[in-house]
Amino acid sequence: MKKIKVNLDKKVSNSYEICVGYDIMDRIGLIIAKNHPAFRYIIVTDSNVSALHGEGLLEKLKGMGLKADMIEFPAGEASKNISTALGIVEKMLKIGADRKSTLLALGGGVVGDITGLIASLYMRSLPYIQIPTTLMAQVDSSIGGKTAVDLPEGKNLLGTFHQPRGVFVDLKFLETLSEAEFNNGLMEVIKYGIIEDAGFFHFLEEHMDRIRKRQSDALERIVENSCRIKKGIVEIDEKDEGLRRVLNFGHTIGHAVEAASEYRMSHGEAVALGMVAAVRISERLHDLPAEDRVRIERLIKSAGLSGHIPKTITLEKILSRLKMDKKKDGSTIHFVLLRKIGMPFINGGVPEMVLHDVMEELRR
Ligand code: GLY
Repeated sequence: MKKIKVNLDKKVSNSYEICVGYDIMDRIGLIIAKNHPAFRYIIVTDSNVSALHGEGLLEKLKGMGLKADMIEFPAGEASKNISTALGIVEKMLKIGADRKSTLLALGGGVVGDITGLIASLYMRSLPYIQIPTTLMAQVDSSIGGKTAVDLPEGKNLLGTFHQPRGVFVDLKFLETLSEAEFNNGLMEVIKYGIIEDAGFFHFLEEHMDRIRKRQSDALERIVENSCRIKKGIVEIDEKDEGLRRVLNFGHTIGHAVEAASEYRMSHGEAVALGMVAAVRISERLHDLPAEDRVRIERLIKSAGLSGHIPKTITLEKILSRLKMDKKKDGSTIHFVLLRKIGMPFINGGVPEMVLHDVMEELRR
């Protein structure tokens, strides 16, 4: 098991460790009891994960003589709303949860975000631990303390920053992940290579085949490296006021297309096409070398994603979703663009005509 320390400003937040390895769930009861003592532990999970891994974790905690309960809600993004959160809170009250309790977020991004939000608000905050079970949650959403639920007007519009006390990343969870779920996370992994680490990007080019076969040493390397990159960015900009925005590479157009598809498109496919659009804009406006664009598009394809926008989604619909993003952040849409692999920058001035042309190129 590898340990990665997230060092945060102690005046604001507590630093914490990310543990990455294959053996973690076998020992988690022991580690939690020793390093994260609490009067009561409450596992928060969804209907898919509870049968697969929740019952086992509950038994382990109880077997250690710890007070433990589990709260479950229906799986899926549709559950990521305030009424699900209130339902969980009511169950916590019934169980008798107080500030000496610790929440364990066992699941993907939805579970992590909603549990984090409740942990930041319940009785003016209590500790929580992230136990991410999807690749996307392991390399991205479980690290950095962003919590949220969705509103009818958009994703993640109601949330807080509340750092977890620890993150336990067991790579064994990845063995049973569907291909679509695996690809969602893989796009975040590729994103880290593009925005931060040309050497890691090269590793992904060389080993994509082994990664997609989920070979243990390859998975260990990509998850550990991704966690290190994310924690490095969060340490510098915990509250998303500057550098952390580079993590949105590929997500501005990606989210707009995903929303325009009424969420029929997978998040991985949306981020893939968003990254392809961002590199094409970067090549046109900021001299990104053509060779870098070709390498990025090739790597995304080798990960099994097309990077295309389905013909059925109109440009008007995508542009109107992009303008909703604009409303969220003053008057300009901030795009993360690229000077070369490993060198991103934020740009608010992409002419609508360029956006239009690039998206038209990607519609197939
Ligand atoms: N997933 C983007 C961030 O954590 O800032």
